[in-house]
Amino acid sequence: MGRVSGVLICIEGIDGCGKTTHARRLVRSIRKMGFKVVYTTEPTDGLYGRIIKQRILDADEGIQDAVVALLFAVDRLDHLEKEIKPLLRKGMIVICDRYLHSSIAYQGAAGLDIEWVRTINRYAVAPDLAVYIDVFPEIGLKRIAGGRRLKSSMESLENLEAVRAIYHRLVESNELISIDGTAPFEVVAERILKAVREYLTERRQHGP
Ligand code: TMP
Repeated sequence: MGRVSGVLICIEGIDGCGKTTHARRLVRSIRKMGFKVVYTTEPTDGLYGRIIKQRILDADEGIQDAVVALLFAVDRLDHLEKEIKPLLRKGMIVICDRYLHSSIAYQGAAGLDIEWVRTINRYAVAPDLAVYIDVFPEIGLKRIAGGRRLKSSMESLENLEAVRAIYHRLVESNELISIDGTAPFEVVAERILKAVREYLTERRQHGP
């Protein structure tokens, strides 16, 4: 794919970090600034995303971790071809609620080799900006308790600690920008918007 004019911004974090609410809030804020912006999410509602949700996240059928990683990668490529790339070609800002770094953090935490996870995602366009909302796993678990899907092994405390540790490494290597998700909602929302605004200004001045 040639370079496209749109902007791909991903929002990342452990379960219960508030990323979906913040991603939707960010879409509204950016729209108010006059940009054309679309919210999307992974796993998707497409064929592969539905398999992931029904057979892995909701049912936890004990599918091999490497197969799970491949399914997420397939869902991502399908998402890119059908939705993300066409939007980027139209010059839109795409806010993606989870993307490549979720695979690195979650499938890495499951014990898979991170370089292999990167390899199977090689054709996934790199995000222009990836924002990571940091919360303690205890907070994340408390927020989702009583909600859906606590049955998934992806959400145990120990697992979320391992996921968070990988996200932290990605922050250290500057692949992700970290925002403290334990601050009050409005403060977190404002910090995310500030990071995005700074990125968009920088890009306008110096290009992608
Ligand atoms: P969510 O609906 O809260 O985003 O949850 C989706 C779950 O799928 C979450 O536990 C993280 C997991 N996941 C992966 O393990 N790898 C991935 O690549 C993606 C996109 C999600």
